[in-house]
Amino acid sequence: MTRVITGTRCSSHPAGCSVILSQPRRTPQLSGTRTVTTADRDQAAAGLTAALSSDSSCHGADAFSLVESSLADMIEEIHKELKEELVLETELGDLARYYFDGGGKAVRPCIALCVGHLANQHMGIVEKVGVVVRRQKMVAIVSEMIHTASLVHDDILDHAETRRGKESINVKWDIRRSTMGGDYILAVGSRLLSQVGDVEVVVILSQVLADLVQGEFQQLENKDDESERFEHYLSKSFNKTASLMAYSCRANAVLAGVSSSLVEQAFQYGRNIGIAFQLVDDLLDFIVSADQLGKPAGADLKLGLATAPVLFAAEKFPQLNEMIGRRFQTKGDVERAFQLVQESGGLEETRQLARKHCDAAILALEHFADSKYKAALVEMCDKVLNRMK
Ligand code: FPP
Ligand code: MG
Repeated sequence: MTRVITGTRCSSHPAGCSVILSQPRRTPQLSGTRTVTTADRDQAAAGLTAALSSDSSCHGADAFSLVESSLADMIEEIHKELKEELVLETELGDLARYYFDGGGKAVRPCIALCVGHLANQHMGIVEKVGVVVRRQKMVAIVSEMIHTASLVHDDILDHAETRRGKESINVKWDIRRSTMGGDYILAVGSRLLSQVGDVEVVVILSQVLADLVQGEFQQLENKDDESERFEHYLSKSFNKTASLMAYSCRANAVLAGVSSSLVEQAFQYGRNIGIAFQLVDDLLDFIVSADQLGKPAGADLKLGLATAPVLFAAEKFPQLNEMIGRRFQTKGDVERAFQLVQESGGLEETRQLARKHCDAAILALEHFADSKYKAALVEMCDKVLNRMK
């Protein structure tokens, strides 16, 4: 089977799933078209994993442990920054801090920090507390702030009741105050971003904000043409989830000063692990209990959303297409669709697609010098695939 890199559709999926190794429209660096076979990709990924496991310095690397000290004071630093901007003692501070409670997974900053270190080591930058590392940490912090601001707005839009097992912000306060809380986090994040002091990084991370909003808009749309639904879903997944990971990785590679082709590979790592992350998220909505998730299970169907498990299931059970078209609004749709997904094999297909994106993420690391960070980023793919919440 052959996959073509850049903007073409994947021949392996009848619904025209987006090309795993391709980059989205706004990253023109990889403009040439080259062809890789699945065998090439598997061989390269296997070779990379084997090379890493034979290097003792790369053994047993856990991304979260490697950047533990940076992550440990991240929440404290965010609290401090949020406080600094407040001119009045208002509730706004409580609102803005509410989701920065240490309960998040911190996957985004962890990946951004590790990619930064990966690129630094490639460039022979060894100091642990130098200017470059400090700037990369700011990028990681800003990525967490953008993510959290988007969750605040998302909970308002989704009328969420809980987030990470506690009352969601829109319930604890109200819609107006929560909206402003999210805006305030973004405002402080924007100031921090400018303090990184690199215009290219500001441009890179600003794109994430535009993508997040466009992803939400895409989620409101329904594609009447069934053949366009998978492509639409993957594009939305890039915008809503992968963009933040991809562009944070790109920003930290830029700050390390690696070549433009390695900057692109850092982006591809973030993009592919980001899409895998969203695919697994959509899978968990069907297989994990509400208690484990910290939010109701089956929530996507209830919101009218057709994610990968449903889209795969619709290939086996075409009756799902009508339900997707009416966004599961008719009484009994949610329960019926949930059942059909369980019987269809769509859950395993979703996991397989996530696995392919993880393979592509690993392949993107190929030309970086071996290091414990590289091993940790490879292992991070397993964590993403096997997570249960
Ligand atoms: C979670 O989606 C939401 C996002 C990943 C992005 C939401 C983006 C916006 C609301 C646009 C505005 C952006 C900013 C920066 C203010 P989900 O509902 O699928 O996940 P969930 O189950 O965790 O709620
Ligand atoms: Mg939501």
